[in-house]
Amino acid sequence: MEIIKKVSEIQGICLQARQEGKSIGLVPTMGYLHEGHLSLARAARAENDLVVMSIFVNPLQFGPREDFATYPRDMERDCRLAESVGVDYVFVPDGEEMYPQGYNTYVEVLGEVTEKMCARSRPGHFRGVTTVVLKLFNIVQPHRAYFGQKDAQQAIVIKKMVADLNLPLKIVTCPIVREADGLAMSSRNTYLSPEERRQALALPRALAAGRELIERGERDPRKVREKILEALNGAPGVRVDYVEVCSGRDLSELGVLEGPVLLAAAVYVGKTRLIDNIDLEVKPCCAPC
Ligand code: PAJ
Repeated sequence: MEIIKKVSEIQGICLQARQEGKSIGLVPTMGYLHEGHLSLARAARAENDLVVMSIFVNPLQFGPREDFATYPRDMERDCRLAESVGVDYVFVPDGEEMYPQGYNTYVEVLGEVTEKMCARSRPGHFRGVTTVVLKLFNIVQPHRAYFGQKDAQQAIVIKKMVADLNLPLKIVTCPIVREADGLAMSSRNTYLSPEERRQALALPRALAAGRELIERGERDPRKVREKILEALNGAPGVRVDYVEVCSGRDLSELGVLEGPVLLAAAVYVGKTRLIDNIDLEVKPCCAPC
């Protein structure tokens, strides 16, 4: 595995590989790798000749009062882990390499997908994400790029950008990887104290309670949302940012739960903001109402 810091260098390597007819898979990350990231790299390894993982804590997607400065970083460990799952190149640019002085171009998906949920409490976040992701696509020119369902809204926003701009690549979404007790893996879980770590379990449990309600026949999104909200509001140490029950295709509001449905929530546990979701395919209810 090689570690590449320069845009021109990784661009040259990828261009050459493309010309040789090799397929390229890209796994964009901000590092501090865990099994969630590694599952994306494994999927990329299985489907492509060349696997590139980017590790870049993208300042553009953090708000002024967010955790850019303290975001966990461990490049040595990350490189070891990336190599262990068969990544060919890790691309680790510095801030100046990605946004040199005078940088002034941004990519923004407009509309509902970037107006609700995480966009409310993180203004400018998705503009930062789409800008860096489009840059990475242009630098690496992958045939496939891998994203986690953990960030369901991010995956939908990126797919929208790819469709709207006719980008010639496939977005592959991989399932959420969880800890044994159900908490979704996240680089930010390291911020949690042992007590907060226990309290954080309320998030996957509340979403699971919402799913159970649907499995028992409930098809009213408001009732399912209420159930999740109730569970979170009753959980010690947890402050709700949002709970959303909507279309898993485009995050639009649903009158009746049917087809791809997303149950998503964001909470604060102490100062740490955690997100999680469950996506499911809901069949029309056949029970008598
Ligand atoms: P980061 O939070 O490092 O996540 C990188 C990728 O790993 C994302 O696609 C994310 O959805 C996925 N991921 C994180 N936790 C996961 C889990 N528990 N299970 C499955 N996949 C998981 O998301 C970002 O970085 C950035 O916004 C980025 C796309 C790199 C742009 O800067």
